[in-house]
Amino acid sequence: MTIDDFSADSPSPSRAKTAFSVVSAEGKRDEKFENTLRPKDFKNYIGQSEVKENMKVFVAAAKKRGESLDHALFYGPPGLGKTTLATILATEMGANLRITSGPAMEKPGDLAAILTNLKPHDFLFIDEIHRLRLPVEEILYTAMEDFAIDLVVGKGPSARTMRIDVPPFTLLGATTRASLLSSPLRDRFGHVEKLRFYEPDEIQKIIERSAKILNVTLEPEAAKLLSECARRTPRIANRLLRRIRDFAQIQHAGVITLPVAEQSLGHLSIDSIGLDHADQEYLTVLCEKFQGGPAGLSTISAAIGEDEQTLEDMIEPFLIREGLLQKTPRGRMVTLQAWKHLGLTPPAKSASLF
Ligand code: ADE
Repeated sequence: MTIDDFSADSPSPSRAKTAFSVVSAEGKRDEKFENTLRPKDFKNYIGQSEVKENMKVFVAAAKKRGESLDHALFYGPPGLGKTTLATILATEMGANLRITSGPAMEKPGDLAAILTNLKPHDFLFIDEIHRLRLPVEEILYTAMEDFAIDLVVGKGPSARTMRIDVPPFTLLGATTRASLLSSPLRDRFGHVEKLRFYEPDEIQKIIERSAKILNVTLEPEAAKLLSECARRTPRIANRLLRRIRDFAQIQHAGVITLPVAEQSLGHLSIDSIGLDHADQEYLTVLCEKFQGGPAGLSTISAAIGEDEQTLEDMIEPFLIREGLLQKTPRGRMVTLQAWKHLGLTPPAKSASLF
């Protein structure tokens, strides 16, 4: 990547983002859809009240002093609104937002090009910041602390370091894996905020707001049902709404009633607590092929034909959070609740385990 790939006058964050990310057509549509629904200010941002109230104070204080906002790190599971918060903070501070991601920057020069093209008080958002390569991450240390970067010029004995100033800026980092961040990087953030899963009533409000923006009629009972199947995650809620809007528009004159929502969820194989086909398959295989476990991750992975990392990152966290799965030293085990949820009877030998 060269400096030209990150034009300092990119008109919008979303354009800046596409310059860096390799995403599928469906991914791009999702991203565009999400951007349409993203609240642009604190007033319209539902939930995360602790983080929101704290950030409002920090924004007001920074504005009062005429300073940049201190660097902020947001962590938590995917889809909870880290990018949305970054967008809101930049808007509330009246600043430009540049968006990139950890894996998009291969060399220190890539980050150096971005930093030297910032304008004073710009916000730089680095998504998946835990995936920065170490030589790139090291550039950030002095940039965050001293608004300067040290670049090595030349090779061998004639190599020397050159210090270049960068404009004062605010770094917003987002990560789903805070524990993978090195402490030198973590310690340079003035604000570290954890995003939590949303309450169903907050998800319902988000879905109702999104339906208004999309100009689709959504009855309150249907909104409630969707909020229960959205895994407490706005991104999932909005995706569900998008899919169900398709069914409503093609098969039901455009109105999302409770029966339309129920039928559509059935077509999408999403059950009453938001488990999708992959989650249901995971639990069913563990129950039916391994008597509920314990079974090792590699065994389950081979039985389902899905790689271990995907199971560990994408499927297991929700099952564990919902009390359907346990990780034990001997392997993965379903809980009694999972047997009940699937409508299956646990083998007699497991009665003593619950
Ligand atoms: N869309 C996605 N996240 C949202 C939130 N927290 N509030 C309102 N709309 C949203």
